[in-house]
Amino acid sequence: MSPVVPHSGETCVKVSLADRSYDIRIKAGLLRDIGRSLRDLGFSGKVAVVTNATIGRLYTQTVQSSLKAAGYHVTQVVLPEGERSKTLRTVSLILDKLAQCQFERGSVLVALGGGVIGDLAGFAAAIYVRGIPFIQVPTTLVAQVDSSVGGKTGVNHAVGKNLIGSFHQPRLVLIDPDMLKTLPTREWIAGLAEVIKYGVIADEAFFSYLEGHIDAIRKMEEGPVIHVIARSCEIKASVVAQDERESNLRRILNFGHTVGHALESLGGYRKLIHGEAVAIGMVLEAELARELGHCSNEVVSRLRALVKRAGLPDALPPTTFPKLWGAMQHDKKVAQGRVYCVLPEQVGRVVVVPLDQAQFKRWFSERRRKPSQARAPRSSSWSATAHRT
Ligand code: NAD
Ligand code: GLY
Repeated sequence: MSPVVPHSGETCVKVSLADRSYDIRIKAGLLRDIGRSLRDLGFSGKVAVVTNATIGRLYTQTVQSSLKAAGYHVTQVVLPEGERSKTLRTVSLILDKLAQCQFERGSVLVALGGGVIGDLAGFAAAIYVRGIPFIQVPTTLVAQVDSSVGGKTGVNHAVGKNLIGSFHQPRLVLIDPDMLKTLPTREWIAGLAEVIKYGVIADEAFFSYLEGHIDAIRKMEEGPVIHVIARSCEIKASVVAQDERESNLRRILNFGHTVGHALESLGGYRKLIHGEAVAIGMVLEAELARELGHCSNEVVSRLRALVKRAGLPDALPPTTFPKLWGAMQHDKKVAQGRVYCVLPEQVGRVVVVPLDQAQFKRWFSERRRKPSQARAPRSSSWSATAHRT
């Protein structure tokens, strides 16, 4: 596990990836130091700050004055807001601006925003002149604990979420938890889904901490919030360092996302925001794990209780088996025609299994008939081939 090193009140988590290693720096007020942070990395010349109008209104003045004071020539790129803007068309807006302003290989891009901005800006940085450096300045909880770390960048396609993209690691992740204070409550709560995910996939003690501190976290008390961000980043950094390109272990980060991404896409990216879809996905995938005999009912009930106490949704929105299964086929986690799903064995340990259509259909029909009925672990007649990671 990567160490968290306290240094002048700052927490630093290292993502160890040989010559692509970088720091995740966490401290309230860090945004004001962005100019110096870029200088410390040795960058000079042009910087493009990619953001949207909402975040821009709140933070670009601070960012611009810090960058200008450090001697940078700053260009701002303001993108349309929301998941529906995560498209190739929006990426080309960034590329147009970079080309018009004659950005070069040594120029830097700053992704100032949530996961949508981070994924879009990171992808533009990956492909402009075959790759320029970028830094992540995540402004939502989802982005601070997940999307800004690990180098997954990309956009959605009409057929499925995140189908087009590239691995391109940032040179720095600069996390200022103060920026979470302006986040709409719904977005703040949604981020807690990804935090809970880390407890389930890797750390029972962290899950217990969340159970014990969820009220303080929801109230945004500084100590618990910084702990939650730092521990989540540590877990993600450790997984990414072991499997940068998701050939095996990194798949565990997709817990809740097989069903979650399908629900997001079925709702036209309007009804559920990412974290909410992941919360429902985690509960349903845990139920499925129980049904397939991978975990006990206690795992499902602990998870469901924490999800609910966090203020997240846990119920499957109205849909049909063909729609849900169909949406799951377009997920990028499909391999050789099989849908893979991350299922909990215990809180803190998961397994990756290929799903069988008949099994999934049976579970889906059964839960519609008796939606809230808890069932004991089942016999192996339902168990799928497990790839332990
Ligand atoms: P988001 O980026 O859409 O941001 C949510 C909303 O909050 C937006 O309207 C935004 O303008 C607003 N906002 C952002 N920061 C704010 C602030 N500090 N104050 C006020 N308003 C603010 O949503 P998100 O949940 O951050 O990201 C979801 C996206 O991240 C999805 O597209 C998902 O696929 C992606 N994601 C990527 C990875 C990855 O590894 N690359 C991991 C997880 C999620
Ligand atoms: N959010 C999943 C990953 O980064 O792999």
